[in-house]
Amino acid sequence: MQKRDFLFGVATASFQIEGGIDSRLPCIWDTFCNTPNKIRDNSDGAIACDHYNLWQQDVALIESLNVDAYRLSISWPRVITVEGTLNQQGVDFYIGLLDRLIEKGIKPFVTLYHWDLPQHLEDNGGWLNRDTAYKFRDYADLISTAFGDRVHSYATLNEPFCSAYLGYEAGIHAPGLKSRSFGKKAAHHLLLAHGLAMQVLQKNSPNALNGIVLNFTPCYPQSNSLQDLNASNIADAHFNQWYIKPLFDKRYPSIIENLPAEELPQIEPGDMEIIGQPLGFMGVNFYTRAVYKASAENQFEQVTVPDVPHTDIGWEIYPKALSELLVSLNDLYPLPPLYITENGAAMDDKLQDGSVADEDRTQYYHQHLNAVNDAIEAGVDIRGYFAWSLMDNFEWAEGYLKRFGIVYVDYLTQQRTLKNSAKAYRDFISLRA
Ligand code: FCB
Repeated sequence: MQKRDFLFGVATASFQIEGGIDSRLPCIWDTFCNTPNKIRDNSDGAIACDHYNLWQQDVALIESLNVDAYRLSISWPRVITVEGTLNQQGVDFYIGLLDRLIEKGIKPFVTLYHWDLPQHLEDNGGWLNRDTAYKFRDYADLISTAFGDRVHSYATLNEPFCSAYLGYEAGIHAPGLKSRSFGKKAAHHLLLAHGLAMQVLQKNSPNALNGIVLNFTPCYPQSNSLQDLNASNIADAHFNQWYIKPLFDKRYPSIIENLPAEELPQIEPGDMEIIGQPLGFMGVNFYTRAVYKASAENQFEQVTVPDVPHTDIGWEIYPKALSELLVSLNDLYPLPPLYITENGAAMDDKLQDGSVADEDRTQYYHQHLNAVNDAIEAGVDIRGYFAWSLMDNFEWAEGYLKRFGIVYVDYLTQQRTLKNSAKAYRDFISLRA
């Protein structure tokens, strides 16, 4: 695990940290934040961590952590105009940032879509409109050409499950649509967008590590009864396998055969071939597991496990699910090299006398890095690990109430303070042979 060719990094996403909204187009998260009762603290991304202005000091902060890599996302509405041409001011912002990272010896891992869809595309149907997939391909083409050879790794999408299910089916993320009949349709167009962008990236940036980032919440049965096992398998097919199986097997899980007609995605001939492009890597985001029991109405129902440790966002701490997940994916699919592209914990941090004693977060990292190590020892090819997140930021529907950073952000002064977990991560990385 401590081998030099295993990368350690920190991760962020554009909408969550940048601010600087006046120099880009509006996106679906701006609109969602301006809709009453969607964000727990009624906040928005107008300033966030003001990274748009403070990026130079933030690169210095990243450098001080001694990490090998930095995972960031490109704000699509910052680099594209309504006409679909490049917005040079936005492109220059990222080129400056990429050049500085490279100069400091930090490898840029770039995600092209971390949920900030330009609002004008949503006005045209967003991910329910097949044309958005082609718009994404065009954006990927323009931006990867503009970046030249600066990018170490491109991920097309971050967590298509969240964009499709939370955004279009459950309605708790932007654009906030809520219908059983939307989720799988949006998911198909997202996966198509991924495949189309992969073709472009392989042509424009053949030397970069090109792939996708998926999130997994492993599903466990509440008991060993056949009914509960079946319930947890169905939940797994909907929430996890739905997004990975098409990438490797070029088909959706067999639950598709029992979906009502109105929930079916519109699959055109050739789509599954496009979706199943060879991958240079796959990113795995992991935070927690979910436990299910059988339910007469919905086939499966999530249950809360009593008396188990939780993070501040209410997610159970269960590191064993990470190693079991990695081993099971490796058994099920012909995987490319894996990177853990997100893992971390929201904790109830207190800044006291200039420090944050978040030993609970350090412990979370410790346990999960051990889980990654277990998977490597079991034969899974894992090449890197990114802590979510570099710093506290806008945590989507939770606003600024949940802190995931290893660096504390005082949102009034924009002062950054290394938490004890950041120091532990830095020292751990520095100790490598
Ligand atoms: C993931 C998101 C990331 C962050 C973490 C806590 O689902 O990709 O932006 O919000 O959750």
